[in-house]
Amino acid sequence: MKALKQIFCMSVISVLGQVHCTVVTPQCSSGGYEISILGWMLQGHIYKTMEANFPLDCLFACREDDRCQSFNWVISRHLCEFNNRTKEARSEDFVSDPDRFYFRRYKNRVPLGSIPELPAETCKEIKASEEQAVSGKYWLYTIKENIPVLAHCDMETFDIDECSATSPACDVNANCTNTRGSYLCTCKTGFSGDGKTCKVSDCLNYQNLTNGNRKVSHGSSPLLCDNSLPHGWYRFQGNAGTKMPTSCVAPNKCSTHATGWLNGAHPSVEEGKVTKKVCFNWESNCCRWSIDIEVINCGDFFLYHFRGTPPEHPCHLRYCGTD
Ligand SMILES: *[C@@H]1O[C@H](CO)[C@@H](O)[C@H](O)[C@H]1NC(C)=O
Ligand SMILES: *[C@@H]1O[C@H](CO)[C@@H](O)[C@H](O)[C@H]1NC(C)=O
Ligand SMILES: *[C@@H]1O[C@H](CO)[C@@H](O)[C@H](O)[C@H]1NC(C)=O
Repeated sequence: MKALKQIFCMSVISVLGQVHCTVVTPQCSSGGYEISILGWMLQGHIYKTMEANFPLDCLFACREDDRCQSFNWVISRHLCEFNNRTKEARSEDFVSDPDRFYFRRYKNRVPLGSIPELPAETCKEIKASEEQAVSGKYWLYTIKENIPVLAHCDMETFDIDECSATSPACDVNANCTNTRGSYLCTCKTGFSGDGKTCKVSDCLNYQNLTNGNRKVSHGSSPLLCDNSLPHGWYRFQGNAGTKMPTSCVAPNKCSTHATGWLNGAHPSVEEGKVTKKVCFNWESNCCRWSIDIEVINCGDFFLYHFRGTPPEHPCHLRYCGTD
């Protein structure tokens, strides 16, 4: 065991170009240089193992992997255990083990939280691992479940500003408020939910328009009129299609004379509830009559809020559907 330790000390020394090797203890520091700490290991952060002839092989392999922060050498098994943390980051996991020694990577060690491959759990852990760490953006895996996200760490309070995360912690339709140690998501006005997911409140309550005679492909018979359609939110479904057409529809279609179409593009989910104009085509005028309605993109479908037809000419006008 003693011989092995010496081999390792010599190996390290040849790499460093140093000639001195001391007996090491957990308290021992080598003035900037790393030294092996015999009889100790870091547990719980081993992401890979490798059999090797000499501990120095572990050191070279460690340098090839950005995740490698330190390793344990299992003396009796000639095994490298690569750790994705240092003992500084996780002092509670640094334990004694007579059959191992611990070695921190000393060359080009990637600072914890500086790359997505090496995200940290907390700001405190980053500070413990990297003494010089200052407030700023770091990769953390605790904001989004196991997905590394870049967010701001305050190195005075060790608070993560979850609201600054590159991948938002809240729904796009929620306000995010950072609090010490946590954060709050509040759905914006007109949206309902827990803040992590927010749905337009109106998406939950609507009527279906399913009759095939509403389709732009249907003729003018029977002749119908939407002036008596109860006011409310409507979804086009089944034979009626899935949405309103967004270009002028020929007259005498969808079981009416003047055909209603949406003058403008459908909104995105993020836009929430928007006001749009419906035009009715008659007498070679694509917008002979018009009326404002509200439209919502509910994700899987669109909803339209209809309040009858233009009062100056209620019949025969109808809202048409298409696929
Ligand atoms: C670090 O290694 C442990 C295995 O000990 C693994 O569970 C964890 O996901 C690794 N962490 C990162 C950020 O790769
Ligand atoms: C969300 O934030 C916006 C802009 O900061 C603000 O106008 C709005 O009142 C907030 N809404 C809620 C529900 O907190
Ligand atoms: C409208 O259709 C949806 C989805 O098919 C259904 O869940 C809902 O009950 C229908 N509403 C009415 C009023 O028929």
